[in-house]
Amino acid sequence: MSGSAKLNWGLLLAVIGVFALSWSLEPDPTKRNFEFLPGMVSAVPYESFTANPVLAGGVTMQLPPAGTIPRWHLPIHFEATPEEAERAGRELENPFSADDVLALEQGEWVFETYCQLCHGSGGEGDGTVAMRGFPTPPSLLAPKARELPDGRIFHIATFGQGNMPSHAAQIEPEERWKAVMWVRQLQQATPPAREKQVDEGVETEIVNAGEGSEEIASVSDQEVDDER
Ligand code: HEC
Repeated sequence: MSGSAKLNWGLLLAVIGVFALSWSLEPDPTKRNFEFLPGMVSAVPYESFTANPVLAGGVTMQLPPAGTIPRWHLPIHFEATPEEAERAGRELENPFSADDVLALEQGEWVFETYCQLCHGSGGEGDGTVAMRGFPTPPSLLAPKARELPDGRIFHIATFGQGNMPSHAAQIEPEERWKAVMWVRQLQQATPPAREKQVDEGVETEIVNAGEGSEEIASVSDQEVDDER
């Protein structure tokens, strides 16, 4: 027999073998089929959602004891309302001290990753997302933002405000506090004269911004800023 004839017979046998195997296995999808390594399907310990003769209530998954807190989910005792934002401003303090260089560095990273896209690297409200039509955020260098207490900015980052969405899901509380530090750093690093200009720029922007005009408004403001 030539080599290719052997191969053909081999393939034919393999096809017959596959058909025979599939015929011999249970074709009824409502019944449990042949189990290969059954230990992977039926575990020795009780499964989470099964009845349990040993534990309280006869169920495997128990409720956590009263007063326990899941790891990484420290509760924040504030609501997402303007009054609560004010209260956060009065009651919360940044757990990092202002001279914590490492926290500040990480704050820059958090800001560049999660805030800069809208607020711009310098905090002036000229991030890419804002330049492409998302409602332009007010400058973080404006007097209003400078006067917001740390806790209030933390509340904004946690719950959002107006058009700004909540960032609680993607940034952990400590990282949000570090971002607050970076906002403060940006504010301190900017000379007051510049701050005035930026503030006026944003004012006119908000007045001019009709339907869909935000993009053009912010771009032209940017150009004006550059010329100054
Ligand atoms: C999707 C765009 C977007 C992102 C991302 C974003 N912001 Fe905002 N932010 C806004 C907008 C829009 C406003 C104005 C909200 C309003 O209408 O009051 C705002 C407002 C603010 C204000 C209040 C400013 C003021 O003068 O009232 C602070 C502080 C602030 N953001 C901080 C942050 C920080 C810190 C981050 C990152 C953790 C962040 N933002 C991420 C869009 C964004």
